[in-house]
Formats: sequence, C-alpha cells, structure tokens
Amino acid sequence: MNFDELIRSRRSIRGFKKTPISKEVISEIMEVARFAPSSMNTQPWIIYAIGGETLDKIREGNCSQMLAGVPPKRDFPIKEAYEGEHRQRQIDVAVQLFEAMGIERHDKEKRQDWVMRGFRQFDAPVSLAIAYDTYLEPAAISHFDLGAFTHALVLAAWERGIGAVINGQGIMQSEVVHKHAGIPENHAIMTCVALGYPDYDFPANSVKSTRADVDTFLNFVGFEEGTDA
Ligand SMILES: Cc1cc2nc3c(=O)[nH]c(=O)nc-3n(C[C@H](O)[C@H](O)[C@H](O)COP(=O)(O)O)c2cc1C
Repeated sequence: MNFDELIRSRRSIRGFKKTPISKEVISEIMEVARFAPSSMNTQPWIIYAIGGETLDKIREGNCSQMLAGVPPKRDFPIKEAYEGEHRQRQIDVAVQLFEAMGIERHDKEKRQDWVMRGFRQFDAPVSLAIAYDTYLEPAAISHFDLGAFTHALVLAAWERGIGAVINGQGIMQSEVVHKHAGIPENHAIMTCVALGYPDYDFPANSVKSTRADVDTFLNFVGFEEGTDA
C-alpha cells in the first residue's frame, strides 16, 4: 500500500480473531512507529504490550469496577463532555456502529454489552498501554508526541494486516491496569490500543467513519488569490 492508501483505508477494528500476535510482530511494529516525530526528539513514549492472563485480569477488573459503579479515574484530566460539532461527530460514529451491530437506541441491554466489550479491550489478544513519565507534566506536548507515535503504530499494524482500536475505555479504571500490568505510578497511561488480527465477519469492523471536508478546517493566510504563497 502506498501511504495515502494506507492512511485512508485504516479504520478502527473492534472484533478480533483469537490468533495470537507474536512478540516479534509487536517489536516490528514498534521498529516503525519509533520514527514518529516528537518535541525536541524527546521520544517520551513508554509502551507496555499486555497479553495472556495479565490482560484477562485487566478485562475482569475493568468490567467489575464499572459494573460496581466505581467512577472512572484516569492518570490525567480530560474533557468530560464534547459540545457542538464535536458532540455531533461523536453521535454520528456511535449511530454508525450501533446500526452495524443491530443495536436499537432503546435497547439498554445490548448497549451495555457493547460498552462492556470496550472495557474488555474488545477481546483482543493484545492491549498496548501507551504511557509517559509523569515528571513531564504539564505534558500537553508529550501527549501530542504520544498521539503521533500511536498513529504511526496503528498504521504500521494495518499495513501488516493487523487491526487496532485506540481506546480510552481500557484505561478508564487506570488503577486496574497499573496493578495487574505492574506499571509504576510515575508512568501515566495516556491511552491503550487493542490489537489483533481482524475478524472481518464482525459487523462493526466494516464501519467507515466520516470526515469533515478540508475547507471546514483549513485556513489559508497570506496567500494571494490564484497564486502560491
Ligand atoms: C484517543 C482516542 C480514544 C478513543 N477511545 C475509544 C474508545 O474508548 N472506544 C472506542 O470504541 N473507540 C475509541 N476510539 C476510536 C475512535 O472512535 C475512532 O478512531 C473514530 O471514531 C474514527 O474512526 P476510525 O478510527 O475508524 O477512523 C478512540 C480513538 C482515539 C484517537
């Protein structure tokens, strides 16, 4: 795949085959992702690749905490509720996913099942916890760097036929992940990435989310009409 094809064809994968992913393949993906740019070449990413029984314990811990009504707790503050066009896009992709999965708006049970799937890391064989050292806080620039790294890694995975969904659901109970994966407190977990070979029969995997047109976000400044700057 050329780069444009790769970036345009990638989509989030939320249903996986049981086939394991080897340490070699994960390392190979990291070999590529490490070429992501970062502020002053600080390369602040710290990655925990979690699988096997450890991941099962995290799935169980996430689900039981959420079912018990324990309020989500992440390692850094987040915007709780999106507004305006951001909220609309959030709704639009949820509608696409629910339609694909045959989940009716008022079907609380199926909606709950879907949410729990996220807390289980979509039953993927591997979850990557993407972390940074807390001494970097306030860490907005490092967060940016981790975003660049994470995009690179999901693209490198996609090129190898491996699907991924970057997700906050797996780390909403961050203490569970710290405890079972033995991640020290000073490694703040930014997000996680569920990783595995896609199950293309899983309906949500066919969802292609939409994007706003370029002219809605691109502003040219200092360009003369009809000329290049
Ligand atoms: C930081 C971040 C957090 C996300 N958290 C979740 C999540 O908790 N659950 C989920 O199903 N998808 C999650 N996603 C995936 C987005 O919903 C998805 O990237 C977006 O809808 C665009 O769709 P696409 O990845 O298929 O292009 C997250 C993506 C990012 C970048």
